[in-house]
Formats: sequence, C-alpha cells, structure tokens
Amino acid sequence: MRIARATPDDLAPLARLMAGSALLRRYGVTPAGARSSLGSGLRGGDALFVALDRDGIVGLAWLITTRALDRSAYLRLLLVADGARSRGTGTALLARTERAAHAARCRHLTLLVTTSNRRARVFYERHGYAHVGDLPGFARPGITEALYVKDLAGGGRG
Ligand SMILES: CC(C)(COP(=O)(O)OP(=O)(O)OC[C@H]1O[C@@H](n2cnc3c(N)ncnc32)[C@H](O)[C@@H]1OP(=O)(O)O)[C@@H](O)C(=O)NCCC(=O)NCCS
Repeated sequence: MRIARATPDDLAPLARLMAGSALLRRYGVTPAGARSSLGSGLRGGDALFVALDRDGIVGLAWLITTRALDRSAYLRLLLVADGARSRGTGTALLARTERAAHAARCRHLTLLVTTSNRRARVFYERHGYAHVGDLPGFARPGITEALYVKDLAGGGRG
C-alpha cells in the first residue's frame, strides 16, 4: 500500500468510494455530488491523499488547511474501503495528513465524527485527538457531530 496525492484521474474512483460508504449515504452523498465536491476541492487547493494497493484506490484523506481558529487545519474526510480496514491504511493516511498540515504551518488539526461512530472515535483518540465538544445538527439535521482537536506542535510530525 502506498499514499499519493490525488490527481484529476482519481476523481471517478474516489467518488465511487465515497458513494459506497454507508456512513456518507447518511449525509446524502451521491456519486455525482461526491465527484463535484472532490473536483472543487482539488481545484481549490485542498490536499487530497489516496491510499493505493494492487486493486487501486482503497482510501482517501481530505485536508483543508486554514489560518482560522489559531491556524487550524480541517480533516474533512478520512475513509478506508470496507474490505481494506484494520491493515494500517487509516493510520498511514492520517499520518500523511498530519505531516501536510504541519508543513503548511497549521498548529492544530480539527475534525468532526458522527457521535455514534464508535470505531472512528476510538481510532482518533488512539491517535492523540481530544474530544472537545459536540455539535448537534451541525452538518445534517438530527445527527450530532463530535469535535476533535490535535495539537500539531505537540505531536503532529509523525
Ligand atoms: C476510521 C477508519 C478511517 C480507520 O481506518 P483503518 O484503515 O481501519 O485504520 P487502521 O487499520 O490504521 O487502524 C484501525 C485498526 O487497525 C489496527 N491496525 C493498525 N495498523 C495495523 C496493521 N499494520 N496491521 C493490522 N492492524 C493494524 C489498529 O490497532 C486498529 O485496531 P482496531 O481494528 O481494533 O480498531 C475506517 O474505519 C473508516 O474508513 N471508517 C468509515 C469512515 C469513517 O468513520 N471515517 C472517520 C470519520 S470522517
């Protein structure tokens, strides 16, 4: 498995990966909608990283670097294909993302996780993210987001 920057050629398989996710379907993600938002992310300078194995793309990390909130970067999405989980792919994507945020001189990495997504919450907590609050109905009515933050100056160089 290797991690690479996404290119425009990756948009169609990435849109399929996103639209195939049960989690993202709860947020109304469709193949066309995913392709459109991935395309605007790439054109707008977001950092999109793909995890590749023999079969092609098996994961995506989507990072937006900002100067807002004391130079926070935002991990918009971390997603590993169902059949490729528990092999270190999520960890490798997260480490690559943290290095990119640190290189962009961001001081924090922030992210939102659906509160009911236990597996992802344990994953982030193991990787040094602190749960700092909840945002009911923030991204979608009826769904509460847990807000996590990691201090990159303290441990984001991984
Ligand atoms: C959360 C998520 C990204 C984790 O990805 P992953 O590739 O399974 O993560 P990793 O393999 O790096 O680590 C997870 C597990 O594998 C273990 N692991 C880490 N490296 C490993 C390796 N080299 N070999 C075997 N297992 C490993 C970890 O200890 C961890 O253990 P667990 O399965 O008991 O929890 C993935 O579950 C996912 O895509 N979920 C749906 C989307 C989502 O919830 N995203 C987060 C909100 S945006």
